[in-house]
Amino acid sequence: MKANLVLLPGDGIGPEITQQAASVLEAVAKRFGHEFEFRSHLIGGIAIDSTGEPLPAATISACKDADAILLGAVGGPKWDDPSAKTRPEAGLLQIRKELGLFANLRPIRLFDELVDASPLKREIIEGTDILFLRELTGGIYFGESGRSGEGSSESAYQSMVYSVPEVERIVRLAAQAAKGRQNRLTSVDKANVLEPSRLWRQVAARVMAEEFPDVQYDVVLVDSMAMHLINRPRDFDVVVTSNMFGDILTDEASMLPGSLGMLPSASLGSDGPGLYEPIHGSAPDIAGQDIANPLATILAAAMLLRHSLSLNEEAEAIESAVSQVLADGLRTADIARGSESLGTQAMGQAVIERLSN
Ligand code: IPM
Ligand code: MG
Repeated sequence: MKANLVLLPGDGIGPEITQQAASVLEAVAKRFGHEFEFRSHLIGGIAIDSTGEPLPAATISACKDADAILLGAVGGPKWDDPSAKTRPEAGLLQIRKELGLFANLRPIRLFDELVDASPLKREIIEGTDILFLRELTGGIYFGESGRSGEGSSESAYQSMVYSVPEVERIVRLAAQAAKGRQNRLTSVDKANVLEPSRLWRQVAARVMAEEFPDVQYDVVLVDSMAMHLINRPRDFDVVVTSNMFGDILTDEASMLPGSLGMLPSASLGSDGPGLYEPIHGSAPDIAGQDIANPLATILAAAMLLRHSLSLNEEAEAIESAVSQVLADGLRTADIARGSESLGTQAMGQAVIERLSN
C-alpha cells in the first residue's frame, strides 16, 4: 500500500515525539512492504512565529490531500499572552473544524506493567478499559463568544450550542463502537442545568431506542461521572459526551493508567483523513531534552494504521511492540517512578527493535 501522511509536529516536545512515531511507521512500512510518504507542515506556535497564523493555508490543503495526519502537540508559554491576536490552540480547533473531525476517540487502556505507576490503587483500576467518544467540532468550543464593557464593568461570554444532527452522529458512532466491545454505552451530560444537555439527552435516548435497542444504555451527570471514574472505572465500557466535558473527563481518566504519556487519540470525520495525536500537551518544560515519552504518539500511529489505512495487523504489531518494551522493563522518566529511565529516541528505537511481522 502507498499512503500519503502529513506530520504536524507543532510545539514543545511535539517534534521529538512525532519523529519517533514517524520512524516507527517507517519501520512498519519496511517490514510489511508498504510505502509511506511523509510531509511535515506547520501548526501552532511555530506556525504563528513563521507565518503569523496558527494554521497556514498550506497546512490545511496538505491535510485535505493526505490519507492521514499525525500531530504532536501545540502551545507553550511563549504564546500564552491572553491579549495576543491568536493562539496556537486556535490552529488545532481550526484543523478539527476544517476536516470535519467530529468524533474524538480516546481509549483508556491499562498496561499491566504500569498498574503500579497509577496514583490510584490497583484494586480500583485493574481491568479498566474505557473508550471515550468526545464530540469535537461543536458545543462551547465553537459557540459564539465576545466581550463587552471596559475595566471593572467588562464581561465575556461563550455560548454552548448543539444541534440534533451533531448529537445523532456522535451517539451513533459511540453505539456502533459499543457493539464491537462490551455492548454498553454511557452518555454524560449536565441535563439538570444546561439546555444543550437536555437536547443531547433526548436525542441520544431516541437514537438508542430506535437504532440500538440491544445496546445497554445509561446516562450519568458529568459531576457524578468525575467521581465514578476514580471510584469504579471498571463499570464503564464506551462513554459518549460533549466537547468540553470530554476534554475534562479524558484528562481525569488519563490518570487511571498512570501517565498521560501513554494515551493516544484519533479524531475522525464521516469521510476524509483522520487526525491522530497523543492526549498529552506540548510539555514545554521538558522540550528538547530527549526525555519525553514518545509512546502515546507511537500508539496514535497504530490507531492511524487501523482507522485510516485499515492495516490491523500492522497496528497490532506496534501495540505489541509497546507492550513488549514495557514488559522488558524499559521506562521513560514519566513512568519510571524514580528508577532508571531511557530517553525519547532510545524508547522509539526499542519499539522498532521489537516490531515483528
Ligand atoms: C485536547 C486539548 C485541546 C482541547 C487544546 C490544546 C485546545 O486539551 O485535545 O484535549 O481542549 O481540545
Ligand atoms: Mg484536553
